[in-house]
Amino acid sequence: MTVSYHVDPGGALTGSLRVPGDKSISHRSIMLGALAEGTTRITGFLEGEDALATMNIFRALGVEIEGPVQGRVTVRGVGLNGLKAPNQVLDCGNSGTSMRLICGLLAGQSFDCRLTGDDSLRRRPMGRVATPLARMGAEIQTSEQGRPPLTIRGTAGLRGVDYEMPVASAQVKSALLLAGLYASGRTCVTEPAPTRDHTERMLRAFGYPVEVNDNRICVTGGGRLAACDIEVPADISSAAFFMVGASIAPGSDVTLTHVGINPTRIGVVEILRLMGADLTLLNPRTAGGEPVADVRVRHARLRGVGIPPDLVPLAIDEFPALFIAAANAEGVTVLGGAEELRVKESDRIQVMADGLRALGVDARPTADGMVIVGGSYGGGAVESHGDHRIAMAFAMAALTAGGAIAIDDCANVATSFPGFVQLARQAGLRIAEKLNR
Ligand code: S3P
Repeated sequence: MTVSYHVDPGGALTGSLRVPGDKSISHRSIMLGALAEGTTRITGFLEGEDALATMNIFRALGVEIEGPVQGRVTVRGVGLNGLKAPNQVLDCGNSGTSMRLICGLLAGQSFDCRLTGDDSLRRRPMGRVATPLARMGAEIQTSEQGRPPLTIRGTAGLRGVDYEMPVASAQVKSALLLAGLYASGRTCVTEPAPTRDHTERMLRAFGYPVEVNDNRICVTGGGRLAACDIEVPADISSAAFFMVGASIAPGSDVTLTHVGINPTRIGVVEILRLMGADLTLLNPRTAGGEPVADVRVRHARLRGVGIPPDLVPLAIDEFPALFIAAANAEGVTVLGGAEELRVKESDRIQVMADGLRALGVDARPTADGMVIVGGSYGGGAVESHGDHRIAMAFAMAALTAGGAIAIDDCANVATSFPGFVQLARQAGLRIAEKLNR
């Protein structure tokens, strides 16, 4: 069974919407809740396939987890040394975050295990975590070219390292910090540019000390995590589709409620503002150690920009949506320094360029980004390559297209945004979902 979208052109986005819970924070809430002593209660948990894959893996590792029921999850923590050897291969599905973070966490266990994933995940690079973890004494076997499946051998003990990350990756940083909980001495990670810091924030919320000095983050092994309550904010990466949709569609005025606006995630807000978007952050507050706000977005005329390189890691998941904003802007938008987009759930540079060109947009892919000349475009058929964010980005593109947009292979939208079609339709997008046998 495959899922496709048919989106009629036109419409505007209005109303007050709450998008599902933050994916990154949902993963981490299960992981740290499992390793804590005591019971962790989570609210606002993302009931998407990626976060559920993490949940099922921890169940297979012997952790009792109740839920999710309307975003509520209860995790009965087993303590840092309480995980049990699984009697099955651990399946991360489409989720790179599950695989990389869990790889770090399992590297320090005394038992062996095997991690796998779907076709997309089995093409993604894992050497970026396996290599530094090996320096800590972990034994991780990857398949050809550093890809999954992975086999992790139980080790007697890890040792702390001081690692300079060659790529700005929160997943690599988090994998090493999680391994560092099991290592002797200090584990320090230096990042070339700031990346999302949810692991650091949540470790602290669980009472685990984390030292941060500029771009160097350290933990010392052998501590304990104390259970706590976690309130997961709405995912800014899911809200981003509505931010772009409302910005491009005349007559739009939406308020996205309770959105996580962690400074390491707000690149999309900053880039849209540079393009002339009308975004207002209302009611700023804190929830579960993370800053949140309601984001009001009204239609505005956008202009093309050169995207500042320092904003790239802070908006890394939002480029499919931002490319649609660029296609609607007056003038040229240039993105560089974003070669990481080529190793996401799909090659997001090529796949977005192909889709934009299918609609008649002048989009030129480069090795590390894209040059997009804004203007009007038509309808057409777009291939999402099973990438959730490509599918949702092109759905929003229909708001200003000259004809209907058909998008194939959309089932994976459920990995990060269950209920996308219903919520988008409620907001005013003319979207219909088709199940094909
Ligand atoms: C994530 C980090 C980012 C991001 C991914 C989630 C995380 O990946 O693209 O969707 O939760 O740590 P990289 O660390 O590979 O940039």
